[in-house]
Amino acid sequence: MKDFKLIAKTLAGLEDVLAREIKNIGGKNVRRGNRAVYYEGDLELIYKSNYQLRTALRVLKEIEYFQFKNVDQFYLKSKNIDWSKYLSIEENFRIDSVVINSNDFRNSMFASLKVKDAIADYFREKTGKRPDVNTDEPDIIINVHIFENSCTLSIDSSGESLHKRGYRIKQGEAPLNEVLAAGMIMLAGWYGNSDFMDPMCGSGTLPIEAAMIAHNIPAAKLRKEFAFQKWHDFDTLLWDKVIEPTPRREFRHTIYASDISSGNLLNAQTNARRALVFNKIKFQKADFKDLQIDFRNGTIITNPPYGERLIEANLDGLYQMIGERLKHQYTGNDAWILSAAADSMKFVGLKPNTKIELMNGALKCKFNQYQIFDGKMEKK
Ligand SMILES: C[S@@+](CC[C@H](N)C(=O)[O-])C[C@H]1O[C@@H](n2cnc3c(N)ncnc32)[C@H](O)[C@@H]1O
Repeated sequence: MKDFKLIAKTLAGLEDVLAREIKNIGGKNVRRGNRAVYYEGDLELIYKSNYQLRTALRVLKEIEYFQFKNVDQFYLKSKNIDWSKYLSIEENFRIDSVVINSNDFRNSMFASLKVKDAIADYFREKTGKRPDVNTDEPDIIINVHIFENSCTLSIDSSGESLHKRGYRIKQGEAPLNEVLAAGMIMLAGWYGNSDFMDPMCGSGTLPIEAAMIAHNIPAAKLRKEFAFQKWHDFDTLLWDKVIEPTPRREFRHTIYASDISSGNLLNAQTNARRALVFNKIKFQKADFKDLQIDFRNGTIITNPPYGERLIEANLDGLYQMIGERLKHQYTGNDAWILSAAADSMKFVGLKPNTKIELMNGALKCKFNQYQIFDGKMEKK
């Protein structure tokens, strides 16, 4: 099968994890970009990328790359593409644009407008008719990426962002993006190789993603739609092959999820049920202060309140409590905390072994690792 140039978009800080995932599913010539990974692969790999990648937000197939001197040349080069390969006059389309450091394009809307004109004129000159624009539910999504004087035109194979796995029906006040949660787990090096715990699980994103990783459940198993299903070359048999059930990995450890709020815990349980992992997670309503779990050689990953979106009376005290519990009840484990509350994080009172910068939406966060050695153990 023919190979295409592909681009998988991700969140800042997850590029290396995504590159590894892409290599694991057979991506060729994998190169790390900025919030993106570039690679090559055939149609089957496009389907697989959408179905399996946990840290990709969307997957684009490159149509054309060109450089331009001005807007007129940009329009002409855009019109010169054989758009009939991707679109017909009966279909409608949307254009998503990103513009970085361009003198010709001040905003992305102008870039979208120019490509829309180019597509409309291409069809009008050929057939006298043009396909319609549909911003809500388009048949085909064209992606325009302008950097200085170069442009990459791609066709979006995903449609809705891939973080929409299809299991979230209930959410707390500040749920993590599913792609971020999966990325955090992979950055922590957890692949189902030990027990896992999130003692402040909120709507359950971390334990649910952990359960999907541990049991080898494809990221998009529950998703109903992908943009490539409307492509002219959509191959149903190939898609059926990609989604053929894979053997579940045997997982001999336990995933614990708890939260102080019974409402949030209920949301987490509902989401887990939808994700078909409810019986793979041990849920408990508990204040972390009082949580008694015999937990050894495991990984704790949690996302406590930051005081930004969730109002917390004594944020410093909360982080101090987390540090004390880790030191006294949870020695011999690897703990990771994601937080935007940089000052309060110091109250954990442990020296981080690793500090990673991540973005949770618009919030700059630290993802800190604390290896809590057991006094009796020299090294974990
Ligand atoms: C930022 S939210 C976690 C969001 C979660 N990662 C998600 O994806 O939905 C923080 C959670 O910590 C919980 N929490 C706050 N204080 C707690 C405590 N002392 N013990 C346990 N959970 C606590 C809150 O109820 C809230 O659900």
